[in-house]
Amino acid sequence: MTPSAADPLELLEIARSIALEAGAMIVEARRGGVEVADRKSSPVDVVTQVDRDSEQLIRTRLAEARSDDGFFGEEGARDPSASGITWVVDPIDGTVNFLYGIPHYAVSIAAVEGEADPQTWRALAAVVLNPVTGELFSATEGGGARLGDAPISIRPAAPLSQSLIATGFAYAEATRAEQGAAIARLLPLVRDVRRMGTASLDLCAVACGRVDAYFERTLSPWDHAAGALIAHEAGAVVTGLDGRRPDHLMTLAAHPDSVVALEAVLRDIGA
Ligand code: IPD
Ligand code: CA
Ligand code: CA
Ligand code: CA
Repeated sequence: MTPSAADPLELLEIARSIALEAGAMIVEARRGGVEVADRKSSPVDVVTQVDRDSEQLIRTRLAEARSDDGFFGEEGARDPSASGITWVVDPIDGTVNFLYGIPHYAVSIAAVEGEADPQTWRALAAVVLNPVTGELFSATEGGGARLGDAPISIRPAAPLSQSLIATGFAYAEATRAEQGAAIARLLPLVRDVRRMGTASLDLCAVACGRVDAYFERTLSPWDHAAGALIAHEAGAVVTGLDGRRPDHLMTLAAHPDSVVALEAVLRDIGA
């Protein structure tokens, strides 16, 4: 692997401190109550002012630390990259949990080299912070994955019938109906299914062995950029279908010995 122009550990430190600042702001803002500011792709796809404020804070701090880097955030902020590095940011992943006060949402920040395109980018450093629990997952390319300071790794391979599988559902009604039908077919084949509501933390759950595998359709780059590097560095295969990298059609993370069988089952059930 050719060395990158940027030091991944330096990028990680920047991401960590900005995630902590944004996380503190988010938790504080929630004390005052939260309201839906707008609906996005569908009536159930909501955004709050805190999502926007978090994105703005993260963008500002990144520009202060590294003014030549690009920015690509869920709530629409875009800055071109002069350095070759772009920050891919989900300012609150798990907005619905945040809205309801379910203490399971995250700030997700990844530094990638190349375009903001998961098919071609090279992920260098990643942080996923649950600001309520304080759990901070991180990874650098080739440097392993951590929860806090402790190295983490995936669970040993398990047969599908003994596997706990995390997943998530799209905001679009038609896709949800298909996903519901696929889950009905999957459920009798596995130990159980979890829908925890935050894609980045689902990938981190694979990374630290809290679930055996995770799959979801219709993710966007900011949902999986950081979590995918963390899961990969913890030993998982993180892939799309047919050898593609994760994309809108599928993000699948599992033990290397289980991923082929799981992909076949997902295809079979129409997931
Ligand atoms: C959503 C969450 C959810 C997943 C959705 C995502 P958001 O992100 O990660 O778990 O199922 O696909 O869109 O909108 O809360 O940032
Ligand atoms: Ca959203
Ligand atoms: Ca998200
Ligand atoms: Ca979000």
